[in-house]
Amino acid sequence: MVMEKFDWENLPFGYIKTDYNIRCVYKDGKWGSLEVSSSEYIDIHIAATGLHYGQEAFEGLKAYMGKDGKIRLFRWEENARRMISSAEGVKMAAVPVEMFGEALFRVIALNKKFIPPYGSGASLYIRPLLYGSGAEVGVKPSVEYTFLMFVTPVGPYFKGGVTPINVMICRDFDRAAPLGTGNYKVGGNYAASLRAVIAAHESGYANIIFLDAKEKKYIDECGPANFFGIKDNTYITPKSESILNSITNMSLIEIAKSMGMKTERRPIPIEELTSFDETGACGTAAVISPIAKIFDPKTNKVYEYCKDGAPGPESMKLYNKLVSIQTGDEPDEFGWVTIVEKGKRQKAKDKSKKIEKQRDRII
Ligand SMILES: Cc1ncc(COP(=O)(O)O)c(C=O)c1O
Repeated sequence: MVMEKFDWENLPFGYIKTDYNIRCVYKDGKWGSLEVSSSEYIDIHIAATGLHYGQEAFEGLKAYMGKDGKIRLFRWEENARRMISSAEGVKMAAVPVEMFGEALFRVIALNKKFIPPYGSGASLYIRPLLYGSGAEVGVKPSVEYTFLMFVTPVGPYFKGGVTPINVMICRDFDRAAPLGTGNYKVGGNYAASLRAVIAAHESGYANIIFLDAKEKKYIDECGPANFFGIKDNTYITPKSESILNSITNMSLIEIAKSMGMKTERRPIPIEELTSFDETGACGTAAVISPIAKIFDPKTNKVYEYCKDGAPGPESMKLYNKLVSIQTGDEPDEFGWVTIVEKGKRQKAKDKSKKIEKQRDRII
């Protein structure tokens, strides 16, 4: 594909073929070496546990081109660690952070020409995947696993600037059980969310808010994103054992603190929706999707924010700061960015010696 033909600004959040992907197999109790492939397909055993018993986990992160022509990754070690947690959650062999990093830097270097230019709002989406590839018929963990990583350029989430969305509270389905797998990034959670997501779309809503499965009293997950509300100079986000630990959310919490806001991670009862000045969904895809309206079909109540149609000021401050760090427009004061050069990683300049030390250990 000739890259000049890409209309970066209008790229969808979809799959576009790139040149190479990375693969690695775990067999006889150990990981083999990373292999480069130019095929978009995998050969999979008909009895693989990934197909039958949902032994699979994935991640999603992005590489950004900066104004300075440097490629930046945002907190990739957190994705690596979360994938280890997901692997443990469904009893798979985990991919060590170092190996995850090696695959990541190689796959970026091999597909460098697919990284969208600075200013386009587009980025290179990176999808690591791990699944049970060994054959089993009884319900048990596989003894063989396959890890792969592919990339695809994705367009800006909001084409004409950040636009508030309308969401619906889900009263008919649960995404995850209280002691289930909702806190892991495993495919089963996404399959379980599809009925609700489609029902929301069919009713004209962009996304769905799941409630806690046990009591149906608290806000849980907001589709494939975490929820947050802002009031009284406080950033509040749900504490729940069935939501994914969003890397965007944990970063927004740090940014909010650095901006002098208070932060709380605690259960958020539905009734509290009336008291927020701003609400939003956060995740890698959009960073922040401000919420204009939340509709509860049980009570027919509509909670409204962004009444002038514009995103709230606090949400925008948080959004702008995070995006500026990711693209290198602002200094990386938190030590979150890794610069990729010639397929190698290079530490971004950290202010804090403590962070530097932590990163040295990881890298
Ligand atoms: C269910 C779910 N919650 C939250 C998030 C946001 O997580 P992150 O900020 O790490 O992308 C995602 C996306 O990865 C998700 O799929």
